[in-house]
Amino acid sequence: MATQQPIIKLHDGNLMPQLGLGVWKASNEEATAAVAKALETGYRHIDTAMIYKNEEGVGKGIEAAALPREDLFITTKLWNDDQQHAQQALEQSLSRLKLDYVDLYLIHWPVPQQGHYVDAWKQLLSLKEQGLAKSVGVCNFQISHLQRLLDETGTAPVINQIELHPLLQQRQLHAWNATHHIITESWSPLAQGGDGVFDHPTIVKLAEKYEKSPAQIVIRWHLDSGLIVIPKSVTPKRIVENFDVFDFRLEREELSELAKLDAGQRLGPHPDPDAQP
Ligand SMILES: NC(=O)c1ccc[n+]([C@@H]2O[C@H](COP(=O)([O-])OP(=O)(O)OC[C@H]3O[C@@H](n4cnc5c(N)ncnc54)[C@H](OP(=O)(O)O)[C@@H]3O)[C@@H](O)[C@H]2O)c1
Repeated sequence: MATQQPIIKLHDGNLMPQLGLGVWKASNEEATAAVAKALETGYRHIDTAMIYKNEEGVGKGIEAAALPREDLFITTKLWNDDQQHAQQALEQSLSRLKLDYVDLYLIHWPVPQQGHYVDAWKQLLSLKEQGLAKSVGVCNFQISHLQRLLDETGTAPVINQIELHPLLQQRQLHAWNATHHIITESWSPLAQGGDGVFDHPTIVKLAEKYEKSPAQIVIRWHLDSGLIVIPKSVTPKRIVENFDVFDFRLEREELSELAKLDAGQRLGPHPDPDAQP
């Protein structure tokens, strides 16, 4: 069994580690320590955002690790208020991160009521041309939003980062993304701490079988489902635990059992304000 971290090829040809560290809700100080611990553990992929207000802390953690820049995969995101000023917003993020480029820049939410997301996407394509972002993508886009990007620019995002965990499996959107060569990335992959998941009998049974924790079973489920996964932790022991998932694989029948946990249960807001709950 391979124990190396898996790498996903994006449709623009760039490579992205399938497992990364999320840092939402971490302070600058916590982010510095968590990023340094993660990079020491072997993570090479970090997911932050302007709105997390910890890009400076992430930058310090990266600096402390002193790894070659080309070995790292750093994602940040364009906040809703900045959709008409993506260039300025990314330059400010880069300055806080102390980086010359990010590996992935994502539109954070479509905010369809603002009416700017197609224009924002055109700006991101220009930022990729300039080399300030190696790859560009989106978060929280529904099929109708993605279809508009395709119709109006002809270029699909490489990634659609969406809320996805055992209680909200988003099979239709995941399948649509795959048809259009868009990789689906799971946010809140542990359902924000595992309430109703970590103690579910199916997860507990698999944790016992593989001698892993419930969180490790859930992370493995994302990996075996072809999803990019960014569990957040600021706890050193959990940062290590969440990365110790490359020495086992779930069987097909076990994935089918886990499919039954889908309850359509969102923890975050629906990206489309007109959508039925
Ligand atoms: N694009 C978007 O709109 C969007 C929205 C939300 C999140 N995100 C991204 O997705 C990342 C992950 O999502 P998330 O932060 O919402 O939630 P999550 O990763 O599903 O869960 C994080 C929570 O689980 C705990 N935890 C982590 N590992 C654990 C383990 N092994 N055992 C038990 N508990 C564990 C963490 O606690 P400790 O930290 O205290 O260890 C934290 O409370 C975010 O950090 C962010 O980068 C993106």
